[in-house]
Amino acid sequence: MTASILVCRRIFPDVVARLRDRFEVEANDADDVWSRDELIRRLQGKDGVFVTGTQAIDAALLDACPKLRAVCSLAVGYNNIDVAACTAHGVAVTNAPGVLTETTADFGFTLLMAAARRVSESEAFLRRGEWTKWSVDLFAGSDVHGATLGILGMGRIGQAIARRGAHGFAMPVIYHNRTPLPADVAAAIGARYVSREALLREADHVVVVVPYSAESHHLVGAAELALMKPTATLVNIARGGVVDDAALAAALREGRIAAAGLDVFEGEPAVHPDLLACRNVVLTPHIASASVPTRRAMASLAAENLICLLDPAAGRLAPTLLNPEALTRRL
Ligand code: DGY
Repeated sequence: MTASILVCRRIFPDVVARLRDRFEVEANDADDVWSRDELIRRLQGKDGVFVTGTQAIDAALLDACPKLRAVCSLAVGYNNIDVAACTAHGVAVTNAPGVLTETTADFGFTLLMAAARRVSESEAFLRRGEWTKWSVDLFAGSDVHGATLGILGMGRIGQAIARRGAHGFAMPVIYHNRTPLPADVAAAIGARYVSREALLREADHVVVVVPYSAESHHLVGAAELALMKPTATLVNIARGGVVDDAALAAALREGRIAAAGLDVFEGEPAVHPDLLACRNVVLTPHIASASVPTRRAMASLAAENLICLLDPAAGRLAPTLLNPEALTRRL
């Protein structure tokens, strides 16, 4: 019997067409943001769901959608999905690692450079018509090349940022991660393992790239910001909630750190009003992986996972399955 799937947000039409070749598809072409009740209603009778990083999939939803067998996300971060609950319900979960690494690392560097060199702040000044003369210290910021780059979280994206810093910008790179990299990998990247405290004290630019979890909630808060240099910049391309946005806004306002670049926010798409009021922060709407080829690759990978999980004719394993144990739960 043909499986039935729900595509929760608008994606590329050719990717939907590929899914329609295999499945009965209900697609959200209007790109509406469905409430949880609406999502549960639409999931009735569905075998699979194509999600993004924003739909919460938890035990209560799974209880209410007993036919569901596959949750496939186009995001690499999956803190919106309770994987343990999915496994217990025999629901396979996939994410989209790898395909967005370089694009996201590019954007981490974009925010770092924009924050350090005061790009948003100076552009806003120019657009307001306030630029009347050149001055020696007009929007003078801090250097990126040769400065110490501190990376919190050293997965694929952290390593890609480290390579850019070390090889492109001659930056000494220090990092902190739950597990240090194997020595040869760290040496090839040119990255030195330090404690979180040492990283915050020593780095000129700190980039946060850790997944969100209960342990990483407010990993960078008032106490951590107090360790940073007053000339330092902070970049968050991880998840809202890893940085305490209210504490960061206070540090930026009071000049306790120089600048920040943020792509993710606590409670997004809402942004803390104190951050909106700060001039020395570059703010972008969760677009770090948003190049056209990369977003297409993310959607294609999620579709491939759905096909492998729900079409027996596919005859191949889902490429990025997070919980293989779920597959035997249904037998
Ligand atoms: C990801 O892939 O996790 C990005 O943040 C987009 O949600």
